[in-house]
Amino acid sequence: MGGDLRRGTEAATTAGAAATEPGGPLPSPDRKAAAVRGMFGAIAPRYDLLNHLLSLNLDRRWRRRAVDRLLAGAAGAGVYVDACAGTLDLAVELAGRDDFRGRVVACDFSFPMLASGAAKAERLPVDAVCGDALGLPLADRSVAGATVGFGVRNLASLEAGLAELARVLRPGAKLVILEFTTPRWQPFRALYLFYFRHILPWIGRRISGHGSAYDYLPASVLEFPAPPALADLMQAAGFRDVRWRLLAGGIVAVHEGTRG
Ligand SMILES: C[S@@+](CC[C@H](N)C(=O)[O-])C[C@H]1O[C@@H](n2cnc3c(N)ncnc32)[C@H](O)[C@@H]1O
Repeated sequence: MGGDLRRGTEAATTAGAAATEPGGPLPSPDRKAAAVRGMFGAIAPRYDLLNHLLSLNLDRRWRRRAVDRLLAGAAGAGVYVDACAGTLDLAVELAGRDDFRGRVVACDFSFPMLASGAAKAERLPVDAVCGDALGLPLADRSVAGATVGFGVRNLASLEAGLAELARVLRPGAKLVILEFTTPRWQPFRALYLFYFRHILPWIGRRISGHGSAYDYLPASVLEFPAPPALADLMQAAGFRDVRWRLLAGGIVAVHEGTRG
């Protein structure tokens, strides 16, 4: 079933079609969703290359850490969900673990992103589903664990996304969120922000050919809630034992929480 792409919702049938440029402010949730879907549809062919290049390959290590946290103390059986799965790197990291005996539903509303990564999931227990993370095609309390890698920042409503993950997770199941944040300590913060605001978008534009996607990346990270605020939102959505670790000097945070 690996690499089997299913068009799960109406949103899926328009994946990649709404190519609204996301460079400016995004006034409404609907407009943000359309812009995000169009943007990822456009950059899908170069997404993996740019991820590895712009992070100096650290993104692989960050996903390993996220899966380590998800599986710590867990049976690794049953249905797991990777929301905003993109090109399937996080789903593949989970499904490929020796001690994993479940299946991963890898959900993304950009069909081109899922299609770009489909080959990685061949022969792995990954079901790639084209659908909206705000309306997962999964029953209440049916899921043994959930991940979101660099996805929650892109949701039209972060609160609605957390509520949806809480809906599908069984009580006692874990949610792990991997997301960019900004380092606090100087002079690293200043150096990083220079790279993030100026060098990264320049490289991103040249390699992806997309005018604004790699301006959107730093802009969206800079306006995203800091780790303590994200932890508060997870708690408000019904997660307990919420904690986070900073990786790579505070560039990335791995949050985890247990469905209460
Ligand atoms: C930065 S990529 C992350 C992909 C992957 N998780 C990774 O670790 O590389 C963000 C992904 O979130 C997806 N996305 C954003 N909002 C979504 C939503 N409401 N439903 C499903 N996917 C969404 C985008 O299509 C994109 O593929």
